[in-house]
Amino acid sequence: MKEALAGLCQVLLILQLLVGGAAADPDNYVEAARGRALVTAGDCITCHTAIGGASFAGGFALQTPFGAIMTPNITPDNITGIGSWSADDFARAMHEGRRPDGTHLYPAFPYPYYTKVTRADLDAIYVYLRTLSPVTNNVNRSTLPFPFNIRLSMWGWNTIFFTAGAFVPDPKRSAEFNHGAYLVEGLGHCGACHTPFNAFGAARSDRYLEGNQIDNWTAPNITNDMDAGLGKWSVDDIAQYLKTGQTGLSIASGPMKDVIENSTSKMRDSDLRAMAVYLKERRAGGAPPPAPLSASDPRMRAGEAIYVDTCSACHTSNGGGIEHIFPKLAGTAIAQQDDPASLARIVIAGGRAAATGERPTAPAMPALGFRLTDAQVAAVVTYVRNSWGNAASPVAEDAIKALRRRQTAAPN
Ligand code: HEC
Ligand code: HEC
Ligand code: HEC
Repeated sequence: MKEALAGLCQVLLILQLLVGGAAADPDNYVEAARGRALVTAGDCITCHTAIGGASFAGGFALQTPFGAIMTPNITPDNITGIGSWSADDFARAMHEGRRPDGTHLYPAFPYPYYTKVTRADLDAIYVYLRTLSPVTNNVNRSTLPFPFNIRLSMWGWNTIFFTAGAFVPDPKRSAEFNHGAYLVEGLGHCGACHTPFNAFGAARSDRYLEGNQIDNWTAPNITNDMDAGLGKWSVDDIAQYLKTGQTGLSIASGPMKDVIENSTSKMRDSDLRAMAVYLKERRAGGAPPPAPLSASDPRMRAGEAIYVDTCSACHTSNGGGIEHIFPKLAGTAIAQQDDPASLARIVIAGGRAAATGERPTAPAMPALGFRLTDAQVAAVVTYVRNSWGNAASPVAEDAIKALRRRQTAAPN
């Protein structure tokens, strides 16, 4: 009898280990602390917190090309949150994009990236999420217009575009590179913004990290491409940017400012360095840049006059900027992306750089859209894209008009 009981206990213990129950013990403080750091790296809070709402309680309207998706409550509330979910339920959502009842989640939830996170890391995240106070917040999950409101359509999407799978380290690369790859490709979900989409909203793996437009911002090319990407950045530049939101080359604004404030500025220096090493070692792709417009082109002349009037006081007449205060425009990627949306957007709507622990006072760029016509914005943007060694396609007045229309429709 005693033996049989001992045998049963052993079976139960093994079962518990298999389902991750042992690792998912909410009283495991070390595990919870590890989970907290991983939640930071995954930037869960940015999407799962409504403006002015309780952290992780959801209700944030995430804009997608198909409409707004309301993010769910991931606090451990039993009714409106994920309090009743097991560690397995949670891992299935993160690895396969499916809820406990099997319904599919939309890939606006970056599970196509989180699928690479190890089960052990997911268990730590689960433990941490269970230490949060449960918040009652019933989120309306069905805000997408027809036909995207039909979750079944995600089944087809998954079949075609989604490959579940663990991260596979490259044995020919350093441990640091592989650690960076794990963070960038997995929890960091950097590709969710930095990789172009196809028409179905799926990432184009052939153009991984080569830049994309999201919410009227350009997430630039962050491969090691010499002109459009991070080719001129050192590993230290990238790590510093992810830590502080600034380098001598660039100041982060828009969605990247949120990523830095909520996530990367709170990560360990060794993690940031590993991500930087990985990004620097990614082979550059893309077509060669166009030749710059000639300085005597009428568009350049018009643009120069506006630049001298409205920009040079801060960014200086040679585009050199003032380190840590006014970003340099010469040689920067934001000025030379194929897609000028971020550049035009910042001229029209201004911006504020990230405020981080290390640099608490963030310099701001005034909105200039009210002073400049569409033609003037087009001219000054064209000038910035083709001066001081920069080279990129000129921007037409119509493109600015369209951008302004989209911006008024979805201000952020
Ligand atoms: C880019 C925004 C974004 C980020 C970052 C994000 N999520 Fe989500 N998440 C969503 C959206 C949107 C949904 C809902 C998708 C749907 O309704 O189909 C979701 C759904 C979920 C769900 C399913 C909940 C349910 O009730 O269906 C879980 C669990 C979850 N996220 C956990 C996390 C965790 C943990 C992290 C950080 C590691 C995270 N999310 C980061 C946007 C995000
Ligand atoms: C929510 C969308 C989003 C996510 C997620 C995101 N980025 Fe960004 N990133 C942007 C945008 C937008 C910019 C441009 C910021 C600007 O214009 O100031 C940017 C800029 C950058 C830059 C500066 C590039 C340049 O040439 O100025 C780097 C480096 C960068 N991101 C790295 C990362 C890494 C690494 C990750 C993952 C840990 C990441 N990003 C995740 C949106 C995002
Ligand atoms: C009063 C000072 C000021 C003026 C005038 C000004 N800027 Fe800025 N600009 C800034 C500051 C500060 C930032 C950094 C804050 C940010 O990125 O939001 C910035 C950021 C930028 C960026 C983003 C750089 C990067 O690396 O992310 C661009 C591009 C830019 N400005 C272009 C212009 C152009 C073009 C004009 C004129 C039409 C102009 N600015 C006028 C202060 C100014």
